[in-house]
Amino acid sequence: MRVPEQISLLNRFIFLDWASARLIAGWVPAAKELEWKSELCRHMWIDMTCAHRLLERKEELAANAKIHIPTPQIQTFLQDVAAADGFYAFLAGWYMEVKTEIIHALERLTESLDPIFDAPTLELITELLPKKRDQIEWAKRLIHECVKDPATLESVTRWRKYARDYVRHLNGIDGRGDFGVTAQPAKPLVEAYGPAPKKRTMPDWLKKGDFDHPPEDVRDNLKIFMWHYMTEIQVVDPMCYVFYGMDDMPFEFFVDFSRHIWDECRHHQMGVRRLEQLGFDIKQFPIPFVEDATQELEHFYAELTMFGESCSFSRKKKSMDSFYAKSDIISGMTAEIDIVDERTHVKFGKKWTPFLYKHRLQDDRSLDDIVRGIMDRRFAEAAPGSDLSKLNAEERSSITHFAFCGKIEFKNLVFDKL
Ligand SMILES: [Fe+2]
Ligand SMILES: [Fe+2]
Ligand SMILES: [Fe+2]
Repeated sequence: MRVPEQISLLNRFIFLDWASARLIAGWVPAAKELEWKSELCRHMWIDMTCAHRLLERKEELAANAKIHIPTPQIQTFLQDVAAADGFYAFLAGWYMEVKTEIIHALERLTESLDPIFDAPTLELITELLPKKRDQIEWAKRLIHECVKDPATLESVTRWRKYARDYVRHLNGIDGRGDFGVTAQPAKPLVEAYGPAPKKRTMPDWLKKGDFDHPPEDVRDNLKIFMWHYMTEIQVVDPMCYVFYGMDDMPFEFFVDFSRHIWDECRHHQMGVRRLEQLGFDIKQFPIPFVEDATQELEHFYAELTMFGESCSFSRKKKSMDSFYAKSDIISGMTAEIDIVDERTHVKFGKKWTPFLYKHRLQDDRSLDDIVRGIMDRRFAEAAPGSDLSKLNAEERSSITHFAFCGKIEFKNLVFDKL
């Protein structure tokens, strides 16, 4: 295979993995169990990582890192197969048909490459294939579990067939299959549930709560930090709406943001694991939960990184030191790793917030001015009696970001009791 053809195929696989991460993000809010949300977010990160690695190779071959829409037909195909009538139908169509077909197409590519000329591409694809196969195995297990319900089985079967026939019609996702000429399948007459469903789905067992009312067992001791980590799963749906909804951001944003989202799932898992190790049934612990997770995307991202995360370091560092001092090593490590990750997230926030404001809101303000604007709004909305409401006009205009963080920190935390 000549170099231009390889470049064009690599471009297609990069585009598909990137699209895959976006579409999965669009369906995360429809996933019911918290473990499913976490696993899907890991897949988003893997897909973006695969796309990133392939882009590096494409850049070597093409001397540029541009990503093109392969054909208008592929774009329509992606929109069509993503608009399933339910979560399981999407999963079946996307993983068992489209992702499986991406593997076949990558295998077809390896057969056309030269073992010496193209060895770097071949090594890379060999490395990526098992990651893709694992994802499909996970989806298969989940679907197998859910199709005992006849209505789900019907929906899954219908959508799989639609996706399969559509792939055949394209003569494979790379257009290099051996399917012959087949007609484009008619779209099933069902109402699309996603991507980006209006309502997010959470487990039936989930107890909704808020940060002002922590569970009794953690209220007056350091374990409250493990509960806080457990609650981080609640930002994942809103972040996935952002990930799916931002259609004009650069590729690098999605690489960074997929890692950010996956990390939030990991933090949730760290908290859950520690609380379970300590003997708690986490289903009894409430999670703060906003019913409408589709907030204004740009503001959500700025608030999360510049306040939610930026303002959390003092208390987390203090908790880490206390855990280690009291020889609770695993809780200490939980805090330490969280701090490491959150530092990266704040770095992402500093990099992308002004970019988002400029490109999506035509707002040219610097990061400092955006942060100041959010502080002003928080002052205006401050509840009577709160720390923020007690500052006078001059104090409000001169307060630093760091000092502001001190005002919105969680109150009444106890650091000297495990
Ligand atoms: Fe977080
Ligand atoms: Fe965290
Ligand atoms: Fe974070």
